[in-house]
Amino acid sequence: MSTTRFLTGITPSGTPHLGNYAGMMRPAIAATRTPGVENFYFLADYHALIKCQEPERVHRSTLEIAASWLAAGLDPERVTFYRQSDIPEIPELTWFLTCVTGKGLLNRAHAYKAVQDKNAEAGREADDGVSAGLFMYPVLMAADILMFNAHQVPVGRDQIQHIEMARDIAASFNHLYGDHFALPEAAIEDNVATLLGLDGRKMSKSYDNTIPLFCAPAQLRKLIGSVVTDSRMPGEPKEVEGSALFQLYQAFATPEETAAMRRAYADGIAWGEAKQMLFQCVDREIAPMRARYDDLMAHPEKVEVTLQAGAERARAIARPFLQTLRTAVGLRSLSSAAAPTRAAPKADKAELPVFKQYREADGKFYFKLLTADGRLLLQSAGFAAPREAGQAIARLQREAGALQALAHHLVPVAGVSSDDVAAALRVLAASADSGS
Ligand code: TRP
Repeated sequence: MSTTRFLTGITPSGTPHLGNYAGMMRPAIAATRTPGVENFYFLADYHALIKCQEPERVHRSTLEIAASWLAAGLDPERVTFYRQSDIPEIPELTWFLTCVTGKGLLNRAHAYKAVQDKNAEAGREADDGVSAGLFMYPVLMAADILMFNAHQVPVGRDQIQHIEMARDIAASFNHLYGDHFALPEAAIEDNVATLLGLDGRKMSKSYDNTIPLFCAPAQLRKLIGSVVTDSRMPGEPKEVEGSALFQLYQAFATPEETAAMRRAYADGIAWGEAKQMLFQCVDREIAPMRARYDDLMAHPEKVEVTLQAGAERARAIARPFLQTLRTAVGLRSLSSAAAPTRAAPKADKAELPVFKQYREADGKFYFKLLTADGRLLLQSAGFAAPREAGQAIARLQREAGALQALAHHLVPVAGVSSDDVAAALRVLAASADSGS
């Protein structure tokens, strides 16, 4: 597959604010205009149930978030935009993955451990208040990603571990059942704005210091008026460093406007005037979107039609892929022709790469990996004993599945492409437990 597939989920809990917009939505929408990439953006409403058990809120937030993305310029022609719960293949895949996921892996999830630590501090039982849904969260998330064989997953830093777990889970499945899943990577965008909120701390729902993205203009003006400033008087020079006001301005202004504001700070602009300029600057960008948002909120059926069309596109991929996976794990029609004798896909012997062990004049023991037609793929360093070389070979065979992810970061010997190495590891992984 030549195009890179990006996929990300947005949990519909709560109302989007300016920080979500500048830090996540705006760059994600801009990214959909990059040629040569395919984008899958979805509303993670199954995930929302883990945190939020108020049905009206889940429902309302799903509409608000979908309408916000559409109003902010997400083009459903360019992006496969859907709601997780419209794809029944996702929970089915979640189960397949659950069965190849070590419980220990989930025990190590930061989000789960954080709750356990809190419980320990408070002298409660370790799993107090932990639902099995919270515990399983990383598996559901892996299913979201693997269902569409996404390569790149744009997420915040707090989600990196979940992407790593998705890779581990994918590698386990591939190891058992054949090479079905691409191994995803987290795509971390480092130079996007994290906005400060009304009180000067990071803008976040949990600090209750946010400015909603689509509040009415009067409300926007009022909230901007309440952003913290220091007590410097008009005419006194002001610091841009650490100023929530300046930082918000910068996120919506052109570079020239930002430079002018920087000078105005040095020249002692009055806070009231700076706030007025900030309001105008934010409203200039938001006003046209707000009109679209209000229209969508008044006509939820338009949003529904868009999501259904997205689900159809997503299922056109998910449905046949899940059928392949069902077959792979052994869930097959009994009336189909004679069952294959082996459950595990068996690599064609003829194409298996071979290991050759030998001893050099330096007295050490070496091995190489050759393609079936004799081309050199890997060359070991020297081992003191033949047993050590043998163990290294066994380990390579055992871990080839996981190593596939690394293949493109390894530098193969001259004349071998990293695709050759990837192919060799794939074949090795598939043959590892075929008993040969
Ligand atoms: N867990 C993500 C968050 O809270 C949302 C999410 C769910 C997600 N499934 C995903 C993100 C799959 C990326 C890929 O931010």
